[in-house]
Amino acid sequence: MRAFILLGLESSCDDTAAAVVRGVPGDAQVLSSVVMGQSSLHADFGGVVPEIAARAHAERLDVVVRQALADAGVGLSGLDAVAVTAGPGLIGGVMSGVMCAKGIAAGSGLPLVGVNHLAGHALTPRLTDGIGFPFLMLLVSGGHCQFLLVRGPDDFTRLGGTIDDAPGEAFDKTARLLALPQPGGPSVEAEALKGDPARFRFPRPLLDRDGCDMSFSGLKTALLRTRDEVMEGNRLTLQDRADLCAGFQRAVVEVLAEKTRRALAVYLADAPADPVIAVAGGVAANRAIRAGLETVAAENGVRFVAPPLSLCTDNGAMIAYAGLERFAGGARDGMDLSARPRWPL
Ligand code: KG4
Ligand code: ZN
Repeated sequence: MRAFILLGLESSCDDTAAAVVRGVPGDAQVLSSVVMGQSSLHADFGGVVPEIAARAHAERLDVVVRQALADAGVGLSGLDAVAVTAGPGLIGGVMSGVMCAKGIAAGSGLPLVGVNHLAGHALTPRLTDGIGFPFLMLLVSGGHCQFLLVRGPDDFTRLGGTIDDAPGEAFDKTARLLALPQPGGPSVEAEALKGDPARFRFPRPLLDRDGCDMSFSGLKTALLRTRDEVMEGNRLTLQDRADLCAGFQRAVVEVLAEKTRRALAVYLADAPADPVIAVAGGVAANRAIRAGLETVAAENGVRFVAPPLSLCTDNGAMIAYAGLERFAGGARDGMDLSARPRWPL
């Protein structure tokens, strides 16, 4: 199969991104990847404001596209197709991306390929490590938390996931409750290193229940209650704060590790030849979580793959690559490609 070169656009949340990827399914390279974050635009609001995000995407998409093409040293005529996140996500942002991709496709005659954002995350370990199907994927970010059995570029089985908050959201809320900076993940992780994880015992929700479903919203309530109990005269000592972070993080690590054991049991029941568990999403940056998952993988003789952080968080390369897999399989979308706020795999 000859190598394809695809441009990928991503604008479903608060990152405006474009990238160029070249190769074939299972053997591709990132030629360029440009990500413009928007955290400073939303900082005063305590979360992503959809209207502000959509406007910023619309203004910035052509900037990141130009930069990605320049960095890769290719023009539109050097591309085989343009891929774009068509959902799920904040609809204004997704629409901005889809309109931009349609404009490029219409103006250049390039084929258009719509990509599911979650498929982009889930296929990333094939881009970074060339792993084969089937593999088990744990997708953990600020908005998502699910186990996926990935059998092909369009063949995903959801084994379970969160029934309420995603772990990243729980980290972010914990940071807010403890007056730590956003995004909460890295700041809570740094505090946890200084704390005693055994001082406070937080719940391990749904561990008593079969299956791979998880719940993280109760943890934040438990944290709030414990914080208020230990606060003296409205003050939390630095040690209290570190211990709260350590206890919280240990609970998340243990839940994810135990649920991963169960997901692995389902995956391994089919005796895959070269079993792999891979992670994606911003929460995969957490060292304690990685270590917990690596232990479970090792216990089961399964390879553990974690893409570099820049490809774990939202980016255009994962969309270009997932588009490449679909394109190589013959998928093409027309000008009727629609932006979908909800789009389960
Ligand atoms: O994948 P991502 O960049 O965006 C989406 O949610 O789509 O993930 C961001 C999330 C945030 O909630 C952030 O707090 C969390 O990932 N995160 C972490 C760490 N780094 C980022 N959570 C735990 N530990 C970390 N080191
Ligand atoms: Zn994402």
